[in-house]
Amino acid sequence: MWDYSDKVMDYFRNPRNMGELKDANGIGKVGSMACGDVMYLYLKIDPKTEVIEKATFKTFGCASAIASASILTEMVIGKKIDEALKITNKDIVEALGGLPQAKFHCSVMGSEALEAAVNDYRGIKPEEKEELEGKLVCKCFAVTDKLIEKVVRENHLTTVEEVTAFTKAGGACGSCKEEIKEIIDRVNSHPCCQI
Ligand code: FES
Repeated sequence: MWDYSDKVMDYFRNPRNMGELKDANGIGKVGSMACGDVMYLYLKIDPKTEVIEKATFKTFGCASAIASASILTEMVIGKKIDEALKITNKDIVEALGGLPQAKFHCSVMGSEALEAAVNDYRGIKPEEKEELEGKLVCKCFAVTDKLIEKVVRENHLTTVEEVTAFTKAGGACGSCKEEIKEIIDRVNSHPCCQI
């Protein structure tokens, strides 16, 4: 049994804003059934003000995936999209009163789903999105170099094991571990890349 905070358990047992949003104009999907977690984030954005008026989610995953998506919907409602995009996985973890390290990838899925929903709203096509997302590093879990760089930078990660906890990358066949290590070293050796 994972050691979840009371807040995670509350959001898991009583998820807020769960379900599909019929009038959504931005829909983000991350993960896949093959990888064991899927998250959909639905946004209704006012095109004049770019304020997120409504947000809901659907997820197939564990308690922390449900809690991360649910609290994220509450965090973005009422914010302008540029402001909402500043929410990092760290903010989601903090808002939940913490997550077990092995479940950090759920919070990363939340911030990715948000980005994907905004891309969808902005009409960024999947091919362009791929360019923005970068090169595929972990084929087992479809994790790109851009995502690894982002979590390493934002969370000050130094080991492959930590990257696995945050993204799942490296957690299956392990053939991508060397490349993950290179990315960690690259980000950490450039002080200008640190936050
Ligand atoms: S390619 Fe990354 S774990 Fe298999």
